[in-house]
Amino acid sequence: MKRIAVMTSGGDAPGMNAAIRAVVRTALAKGIEVYGIRQAYRGLLAGDFERLTNREVSGILQRGGTILQTARNDEFKTPQGQRRGLRRLNEHGIEGLVVIGGDGSLRGALALHRLGVPVVGVPGSIDNDIWGTNMSIGVDTALNTILDALDRLRDTASSHERAFLIEVMGRNCGYLALMSGILGGAELTLIPEKAMELEEIAARLEDAYLRGKNHAIAVIAEGAKPKVADIVKYLEGQNVGFEVRITILGHIQRGGSPTAFDRLLASRMGIKAVECLCNGEHGVMVGLNGREITPVPLEEVTSRTRPANLEYYDIGEMLSR
Ligand code: ADP
Ligand code: F6P
Repeated sequence: MKRIAVMTSGGDAPGMNAAIRAVVRTALAKGIEVYGIRQAYRGLLAGDFERLTNREVSGILQRGGTILQTARNDEFKTPQGQRRGLRRLNEHGIEGLVVIGGDGSLRGALALHRLGVPVVGVPGSIDNDIWGTNMSIGVDTALNTILDALDRLRDTASSHERAFLIEVMGRNCGYLALMSGILGGAELTLIPEKAMELEEIAARLEDAYLRGKNHAIAVIAEGAKPKVADIVKYLEGQNVGFEVRITILGHIQRGGSPTAFDRLLASRMGIKAVECLCNGEHGVMVGLNGREITPVPLEEVTSRTRPANLEYYDIGEMLSR
């Protein structure tokens, strides 16, 4: 294999640059040329390729975001778009491709694999919803960002004896809410995987005060039901005896300098991805399984989603008393 390409796709995640850097430096050490594809599948279809050397990936290990940028692109979801992507790769003499992204991006990688392109996926998504890996790139950094916010919000909540409803990312997967709820000491956690009635939510918040607490923190995944706005509306209609405030953390969870964990995970996954391409292990995603980085078939990865571990839900309930 003499020439490969790498892209970042879907929602960006802290640590993607570390993965790009590892792919480039590992490939160059093996005498393989590397091209970066800018703006994911949109850039692939546009032929937006740029040569990457050791210099282009200097000074990016500590930076959030992705120097290759990312984009969403519906054309590539079509067979015609995928065939155009194949032609672009062939025009540039690309013999192998590394796709760093979430489950949608990995479906795109599988489509190229099915067209005969040697492809290896690297899981990058703060949601940690990707099957086949215990952790995706960006999750640890996002969790630490959320915890910093939770600790700050608890300070002001305690000063005013307020209840705070804090929305975190996670459209379909409650991992970030679940883990930050436990590790941030929240009194209540709501996730898409486990609905809760408005009456119970109000009772749980009131119970925190009845137990002698001077605040009530609820961490709510953006995909949870009921929505934050519905909860606030309901509480305002009840005589709950405490003030309520809302904080939507939003996209600050997607930025920031990657933690040591994410830098190591991303570097190991980038190295393994190039090794898989060189060893003929194609159509796989590299995943953290136990302490090892192992290849998992993209067919398997894209056919399932990684469910939140509801055991953590019970642990959070017990530890928040
Ligand atoms: P993520 O990778 O973070 O889950 P998306 O789901 O938005 O992000 O997917 C990112 C891009 O991957 C899409 O804009 C599209 O170009 C490509 N993609 C998503 N799903 C598919 C699919 N089923 N087949 C081919 N390409 C896809
Ligand atoms: O998939 C990662 C994620 O951050 C989700 O948690 C969130 O719902 C979504 O991306 C936001 O997407 P966008 O950046 O396009 O608004």
